[in-house]
Amino acid sequence: MRIVVRCIVLFLALAPFVSSQTKSTASPAATPPMGWNSWNWFARKVTDKDVRQAADILVASGMRDAGYVYVNIDDTWEGQRDAAGVLHTNEKFPDMKVLADYVHSKGLKLGIYSSPGPQTCAGFEGSYGHEQQDADLYASWGIDYLKYDLCSFRRTMEQAAPGDKLKQNEMMRAAYEKMHQAILKTGRPMVYSLCQYGDDSVWQWGAQIGGNLWRDTDDINASFNSIALIGRAQAGLSKYAGPGHWNDPDMLEVGNGKLTLDENRTHMGMWAMLAAPLLAGNNLSQLTPEITAILTNREVIAINQDPLGREAERIFAEGPIEIWARPLADGSRAIAVFNFGEDESFLRGINLHLKEAGAGDEWKARDLWAGKDVGPAGNYKLTLKRHESVLLKLTR
Ligand code: GAL
Repeated sequence: MRIVVRCIVLFLALAPFVSSQTKSTASPAATPPMGWNSWNWFARKVTDKDVRQAADILVASGMRDAGYVYVNIDDTWEGQRDAAGVLHTNEKFPDMKVLADYVHSKGLKLGIYSSPGPQTCAGFEGSYGHEQQDADLYASWGIDYLKYDLCSFRRTMEQAAPGDKLKQNEMMRAAYEKMHQAILKTGRPMVYSLCQYGDDSVWQWGAQIGGNLWRDTDDINASFNSIALIGRAQAGLSKYAGPGHWNDPDMLEVGNGKLTLDENRTHMGMWAMLAAPLLAGNNLSQLTPEITAILTNREVIAINQDPLGREAERIFAEGPIEIWARPLADGSRAIAVFNFGEDESFLRGINLHLKEAGAGDEWKARDLWAGKDVGPAGNYKLTLKRHESVLLKLTR
């Protein structure tokens, strides 16, 4: 009897911790969200058919099984509001509920897009003044993810507090918090993705107002310059990321534009190191075996999805050469060496800065893109071509 009583007392004492523990592991973004988003390839042209096709190919290509489960419709799905203020889809999306059911039937999740302003960035209907109504609508369709893009709310802020940046920033936070509360009220878990391009150092407050991820830069494009600029600008931000709340350097351009295979690997490897959301942005109907291999490399994805959730930091920079490192849950380390230079650069026996990476000379190294063990990290010699990188897992 005594034992039983003690157990109950112990349970009650631990209850608050147990429940907060459950909450954090129940986050819809305990690891960085993975999926596909329509914007980088289809932009304004995306239709219901494109989204279904993306869902089909995520399954057929093995991407879903590698972790890409969100199918996210970006801007331009919105129609008009009716007399009761209920938002309808436009002619490109005949029935969002039916589409959601289709996506769910494939073992995938559906994401959608809106703005705290009266209009979205592409000039469609935003959620301003209809936040709860829209959140309820998304929940009724079965939406699992919302990207909320500042867009015209910048004008609303400027009109309300002309020239007063501090006041405007307060309004912005309140607008994002408002939609967070609206989502909570629906009772349906949705990943909440803040998109306001890093204004007001969003990484410092995004998690407090319920953001699971926050864009921290302007839009990416399918050029190595854009990828390198955004990737390198993440230095110093790792302390703000962790399970449930992530820095978002924008969606992947892997497979888009004229990126070489080295550039695609560098992009994917860097986003993996950065614990960035992995939202493919390419035309999945044009997937080549090489691009599929890059997007579905399990060992690279495992770095991104590591449960410790510690984003990489830059531990060395010299001219175009940078080394980034992150600790992993099993006590090993991931390290990436990048050559951002335009000229061919031959690195022979580059010092991997193992100490700063938290590893020792005698640690074993595995080259994740080559998929092979390369021996003791202390003796590792490498050469890197223009825009090439190497991604190593170091174990004791
Ligand atoms: C931009 C946003 C893009 C895309 C676009 C849609 O503001 O950064 O990722 O969502 O709006 O209009």
